[in-house]
Amino acid sequence: MLTRREFLACGGSVALAATTGCVASPPLPKSGFIDFGDPDHPYLGLATSLMQEYDYDAAVEGAVPPGLRGVLYRNGPGLFDRGGLRKRSLLDGDGLVQRVHFHDNGVRFRCRFVRTPKFQEEEAAGSFLFPTWSTLAPGGIWNNFWGPGRIRSQAGVTVFPWRGRLYAFDESSLPFSLDPITLETIGESRLGVPPEMPLIFAAHPKFDPRTGEWLHFGIQYGRQVSLHLTCFAGDGTLVRHRIIELPRYVYIHDWFVASRHVLLSLHPLEVAVWGPLLGIRSILDSLRWRPEQGNLLMVLPRDFNGEPLLLTTEASFMWHGVNSYEHGGELLADFVGYANPDHLVGPAAVAQTVMTGRKGVFRTPGRLWRYRIDLLQRRVERELLAAGNFEWPRIDERQRCRAHRFVYLCAANPAEFFWSAVERHDLQTGQHGRYDFGAGYYCTEPVFVPRSVSAGEESGWVLTEVYDSRTRKSFLAVLNGERLEDGPLARVMLRHHVPFSYHGWWQADGEA
Ligand SMILES: [Fe+2]
Repeated sequence: MLTRREFLACGGSVALAATTGCVASPPLPKSGFIDFGDPDHPYLGLATSLMQEYDYDAAVEGAVPPGLRGVLYRNGPGLFDRGGLRKRSLLDGDGLVQRVHFHDNGVRFRCRFVRTPKFQEEEAAGSFLFPTWSTLAPGGIWNNFWGPGRIRSQAGVTVFPWRGRLYAFDESSLPFSLDPITLETIGESRLGVPPEMPLIFAAHPKFDPRTGEWLHFGIQYGRQVSLHLTCFAGDGTLVRHRIIELPRYVYIHDWFVASRHVLLSLHPLEVAVWGPLLGIRSILDSLRWRPEQGNLLMVLPRDFNGEPLLLTTEASFMWHGVNSYEHGGELLADFVGYANPDHLVGPAAVAQTVMTGRKGVFRTPGRLWRYRIDLLQRRVERELLAAGNFEWPRIDERQRCRAHRFVYLCAANPAEFFWSAVERHDLQTGQHGRYDFGAGYYCTEPVFVPRSVSAGEESGWVLTEVYDSRTRKSFLAVLNGERLEDGPLARVMLRHHVPFSYHGWWQADGEA
C-alpha cells in the first residue's frame, strides 16, 4: 500500500484525474480501424480480431513429410476489440491457442480462446472491464487505481505441454491449464505449489531436456520490483524457489538458462511506476528507454543460491534470448538485441500505431548478438553474430542449456517491421539459408522439429505460420530446415486468418 507521505505527494494528480476522468491510456475507438486494412497497409490483418473459434480437417497443398507426426501448439493475442473499443497495442489481447495435429490421415486444426476469468467476464459484459498492460479499463481512474494489481491474465503469450496438461502463460501471473486435445480451459494453475507460497511466472520458462527440469522466472511489480525464480523437477515436484529484489525497476520478457547458471539481462527499459499505480497511465505508456544506463547482467548459479554477479555492458533491448551455455570459463548467451526499442516505446511506435492503421516508427532493427561472460574475471564482451532485421529466435530444443550450432529466425526486409522471411544461421560456418515468402506475407516464429529422435541438430523441419494479406487467410508452412531456400514442402491451408501469434511448441507423437 501507499504510505501517507507518498499518497500526499501524488495527491494532486489523483484528484485531477479523479475529477476529470482524464487518463493517458484509454481504449481506442474501434471506428478508427478498418479490419484487414488496404493494399497500402497489408499487415493489418495481424491486428484484426478473430471473431470465432474453429475445429476442422485442414486442406494441405504439397506433401507433409511422412516423419512429421505430432502437434504444434501456438499462442498469441486473438481478440483486440470489445464493445466498440480497442486495445492500444498489437502486443495486448486475449490468448488464442492453436493446435495443429499432423497425423497419418491429414492435418486437424483447432483454436480456442483461453477462458480466463477476464475473458469470461468481459465476454458476458460485451465490453472491456479490466486494465491490461497497454490499455486502461474504461471508466477513468476509479477502474484503474493501483493498476498493476488490477491487471488480469490473458494467458496469451506462450503455451507448453507438461505432464499431460497444456499450460498457457501471460507475462506476470499464474498459468492457465488446458486440455491438450480439446483446448478446453481447466483453470488457473499453481503447478501443484501450495497456495501459501508466493508465486508468479513470466511467459518464458525453459525446459532442460537432459535433466527434465522446468525453470521459470517471474517479475512482480509493486512499489518494488521482485524477481521470482522457480524450478520444477521432471517428476513435477517443486525443487527450489527464491525471491530477489531487483536493482532496477524494469520490464523484461525473457531470460537465459545454461547448465550451471541463469542470466537476466536488465536492459534499461525503466517503468515509471507511479502512472500505473495511480491508474492514470498504462504500464506500456510508462516505459522509458535510458540507454545511458547500459545493460545490467545478473548471473546466478542454477541452484539460485548466493549473491548475484552484476556486470554492466552496452544498452541493448531484448525480447528474446536464443540460448545460453558454459564453454571453458565463459558463459555464452545469444540473443536478438535492439539498440533502441523504438518499435515498442512511445505513442508513435509501430506496435501501437498499427492498432489505428497507421505506419508508425520503426528505425532500429533486431540483430543477433552474443554475450561472452568471463565468470572468473567478471568481464563481459558483446559480439555481433549477424546483422539483419530479426526476431523470434529458436533452436533445436534438444540443445537447450548446452551448445547450439543453428539458430532459426524471422527476418524482415530493410525498414519493414513485420517479417516476411525465415532464416537459418549456422554459427559454426557463418553460412545462412533464407526463404522470403514475399511482399504481403507475414510469418511467425519458426519452430524447429527434429527429423527423428536420433537425427542430428542439422536435420529437421521448420514450421512457420504465415498470414497472406491477399487471401486474408493464414497457412502453416512446412520447410526443410537444411534447405529453406527451396520454400515450403507443404502448406496447411487455414479457412481464416490468425492474428499476430507469438510462440509455438512442438510435441512429437509419443512425447509425454
Ligand atoms: Fe516472447
